[in-house]
Amino acid sequence: MSDRALIERIGELKRRRDAVILVHNYQVEEVQEIADFLGDSLGLSRQAAASGAGTIVFCGVYFMAETAAILAPEKTVLIPEPDAGCPMADMLPAERLRAFKKKHPGAVVVAYVNSTAAVKAEADLCCTSANAPAVINSIPREKEIIFVPDRFLGDWAMKETGRRLILYPGYCPTHRLLEPSAIRRARELHPGAVVMVHPECTPEVIAEADRVLSTSGMVKLARESGQKEFIVGTEVDMTVRLRRENPGKKFYPASDRLVCPNMKKVTLEKVLWSLEEMRYPVTVPEEIRLQALKAVEAMVAIS
Ligand code: 13P
Ligand code: SF4
Repeated sequence: MSDRALIERIGELKRRRDAVILVHNYQVEEVQEIADFLGDSLGLSRQAAASGAGTIVFCGVYFMAETAAILAPEKTVLIPEPDAGCPMADMLPAERLRAFKKKHPGAVVVAYVNSTAAVKAEADLCCTSANAPAVINSIPREKEIIFVPDRFLGDWAMKETGRRLILYPGYCPTHRLLEPSAIRRARELHPGAVVMVHPECTPEVIAEADRVLSTSGMVKLARESGQKEFIVGTEVDMTVRLRRENPGKKFYPASDRLVCPNMKKVTLEKVLWSLEEMRYPVTVPEEIRLQALKAVEAMVAIS
């Protein structure tokens, strides 16, 4: 079937199934095209909860669909490819966090949304790449803070807030591939371009950047800034959306190596099969869901 035919058939089934399609900013171009909502990890989960549809097809990685299931338990959440995991989330099993907490009794636990539902259930607060400093600043100064699982986001948040965080050594293998030399090379090729990078990048890369932003922050800056050229330090397909929405501006990936293989596992065919067979449902055991929801809601209340 051609992409056009697939997209038509997906549209028909979507109506029949009372479904909405949520797509993360890192998905491939043709999947971005079928999005009812395109966005960052938390924005999409909040869309899932707000939407009137009974079925959510989540084109992203597993923890994102799980967060949608935490926020919208009355809806059927489907992920077209259940093996689309996030290696950073998988670096921290819940039992390891429990052991970590035992070493620091009384510490407040902040979990980046890129974590499993079981880890969120062990946390006091969640945060995203867009609000990590605000979440940390909301914690009384005398409290110790454990930050998991991303040590690079944690390191950046520590510098932004001036607070000391107890970090866990997780990281994103995709953002880890970006080297400071690649940023310097991109600047030589495109003098005057604004360098924006995701806070999952290493501190050495962040030190080379003009702006440190979540994917939704990049969308906003590109739209609102008077600048015409941007070097983009995050997953390469982020530039697909930025170019489509800002035809008069130029976006250069900081490196072609920044590909998240898990984000690329979702295809149009898999979205079609997902709607045809209502697969693969993502559910969270109720006890874990309720605990995880508290941490997510505590974050929403702050930002
Ligand atoms: P955003 O929440 O900024 O979209 O980031 C999600 C992610 O997985 C970054 O690697
Ligand atoms: Fe996980 Fe990194 Fe992929 Fe984001 S880019 S989903 S953090 S592996």
